This record gives sequence, structure tokens and C-alpha cells, in this order.
Amino acid sequence: MEESPFPYQGPLEPSQVIGRDLLVDDLIRRVTGRKVTALLGPRRYGKTSLLRRVAADLAEVSTVWVDLYEVTSMADVAVRFDDALAVTKGPLAALARRFSLEASLNLGALKVALSGPARARPDPAVSFHRLLEVLVRMAESSPTLLVIDEFSSVARVEGAAGAMRTAFQHHYRTLGLVFAGSQPSMMRTLFSERPQPFYGQADLVYIGPLDAAAIDDIVRQGFDNTGRKAGRLAGLIYDLTGGHPQRAMQLADACWHHTPPGGSGHDNWADGLSQVRHDSADTMERLYSQYNPSERRVLRALALSGSIYGAEAELLDLAKSTAQNARRVLLDSGELTEAGGKLRIVDPILADWIRNRFPL
Ligand SMILES: Nc1ncnc2c1ncn2[C@@H]1O[C@H](COP(=O)(O)OP(=O)(O)O)[C@@H](O)[C@H]1O
Ligand SMILES: [Mg+2]
Repeated sequence: MEESPFPYQGPLEPSQVIGRDLLVDDLIRRVTGRKVTALLGPRRYGKTSLLRRVAADLAEVSTVWVDLYEVTSMADVAVRFDDALAVTKGPLAALARRFSLEASLNLGALKVALSGPARARPDPAVSFHRLLEVLVRMAESSPTLLVIDEFSSVARVEGAAGAMRTAFQHHYRTLGLVFAGSQPSMMRTLFSERPQPFYGQADLVYIGPLDAAAIDDIVRQGFDNTGRKAGRLAGLIYDLTGGHPQRAMQLADACWHHTPPGGSGHDNWADGLSQVRHDSADTMERLYSQYNPSERRVLRALALSGSIYGAEAELLDLAKSTAQNARRVLLDSGELTEAGGKLRIVDPILADWIRNRFPL
């Protein structure tokens, strides 16, 4: 079967990252200038893809990539760093091995050691500390970019952010350091609102939706390269998604699957959209049921009118103070974003589901 030119699950290959040239250049400049940087943006906006691209473009620099997705303990954090060092490639690989041996660490084996008999189990905090020292020594010997993805999860692990600060604060000129995270409230707490020492000095870089021109490039190229025509499909996708990268790709993919070679994507917009609605309906229903009643009212008012104070809000019995609270909670969890003073539901497919499910 022919492969769709619109992958929408998981991060992209570096060469597939389109429409992010300014951000790529900006991040490369900061990494090269040794500015500690935090990349902030909603889930599925392309943070991981973007950073992979940055790492690939920095030819002279080797990357250590740590993914802290849903870590809950110091053992988790230490294992993720251990794994990251163990799979390091290029000139860093030999350095990682050598410095680990010198620190009495058996690289790549921490997970096994931590699940072994209690007597022989290493202290995860001590292992973590040593791994961080290994990293700093590697960076002193060879140009290194350290990417810490899904960083917001460390806020839940007592002592983890502090250990990293201690290890890196006097070495931030030695290594390129980029943090990425999706949970706005945790990222803000660490980096800006009540700035923590060291983290408070990081440059904050925000990743937004893709613009209409980028969506047009992506959609057009995908259809052209596979012997189909996009027609005016990109505009339709942009209007519905507002440039949400993953949802735009998912819709493009669905329309593409309905379009035979030689056909026009534009003609299959209705089928593609129905497909995505159908495929996501159960998930949306489950998701929606997890919000409390005032959050649901806020989401409904926003989906219908783009405002939480207008006539729609009144019809939904949404009091101002209740709306304010729910708005804060939803912004903190990354369900809503605010750009240019305009509040929006991040996921356009959720907004679309709400509009169809509750037409006022
Ligand atoms: N520059 C881009 N061009 C096209 N699609 C993108 C782009 N960036 C992200 N995407 C889409 O979003 C999805 C999620 O990207 P990912 O990098 O995993 O996001 P994040 O790390 O922010 O959660 C990708 O599978 C892809 O469909
Ligand atoms: Mg990611």
C-alpha cells in the first residue's frame, strides 16, 4: 500500500519539518551561543520534531536526548538519563563509556540494577548525580547538545530539578541546553512566574500553530509528490484547525486516503473530515466527560462563540467568576491557549466535536 505523505503520530523525521525555518534558525543561534533555552508550546505542536531538526542541523555537535515523559520518581529520572547516555552516537559514545566507567557506572544497566535485590540496589539520587557529572565531562571534551524533552514532568520528582541545576549552573557555557515541555503551568512555574535560580535565566521560546502558508506548502507538496492535486484543500484545513500541526496533518492524511491517484484532495474534504470526526468521537466523548461542569461550560461557550462572556455564556448559565476559574485551570493544563488576547481551545477537533454535539 502507498504510504501517506502526512504522518501524524509521533515526531517527524528532521527532513519532514516544514514551516519552522525561523524557529529552527533561532534555536540554532541560541544553542550555538550557549543560551539555556526553554521551548514552550501545547502538546502536538511539533516541539520534539523541531528539536530533532535542530539537532540534525547542528552537524558539529552531538546530541544527548533525554525524554522525561511522565517520570514520577528519582529512579525514573536516573534511568532516562542512563538510557540516553547509553544510546549516544558519534564522538560522544566513547566518552560516555569512558567517563561512566571512571564513575563506577555500568552504562545502560541502571534499570536492571534498580530492580535487583534491595541490598545491591544503587541509590537513584547518587546514580543520577554521577550521570550528570559524566554528561558535563563529555561536554567539556566534545561539543554537546543536551535536549531534555517533556521536562515539565520533573516538577513532580522531589530533588530532580535541583540536582540538574547544581550540575549545570556552572557549566551552562560548556554545553548547549534546551528544555521542552507542554504543561504550561509547570513550565511557567519553573521558568518564569516564580523563577527558580538557574532556570529563571533561560530564554523562553514559544512554538505556535503553523501559518496558512506553511499548511499550504505541506498539503500541496504531499499531494503533488504522490501524483494527486490538493486544490483548495489547504485553506479548508487551515480554517478548521487554525494551523494546529498534528490535526492539520491528520486531516490531510484522511483526505489523501480518500483521494485516488490523479484525483483532487479538495473534492474529498467532506469524506476526510467525516473520517476524522468518526475516528476521534469516542476519545472526544471520554475527554469531555472528564471536565467538571464549569469547565464544560467554558469549553462550550468558547467552541460556539470564541468568548466566555458573551450571549452564549449567558445561555449556558456561566457566571463570570466561575468562568474565570475554569479558564485559569484549562489554560494551566494546556487545554486552552491565549494569543493576541484571544482565547482558543487548543485542539480544533475537540472544538469541532463540541459544536456538533451541542449546537446551541
Ligand atoms: N513542522 C511540521 N510540519 C508538519 N507537521 C508537523 C510539524 N510539526 C509537527 N507536526 C505534526 O504534529 C505531530 C506531533 O509532532 P511532535 O513533534 O511529536 O509534537 P510535540 O512534541 O509538540 O508533542 C507530528 O506527527 C506531525 O503530524
Ligand atoms: Mg514531544
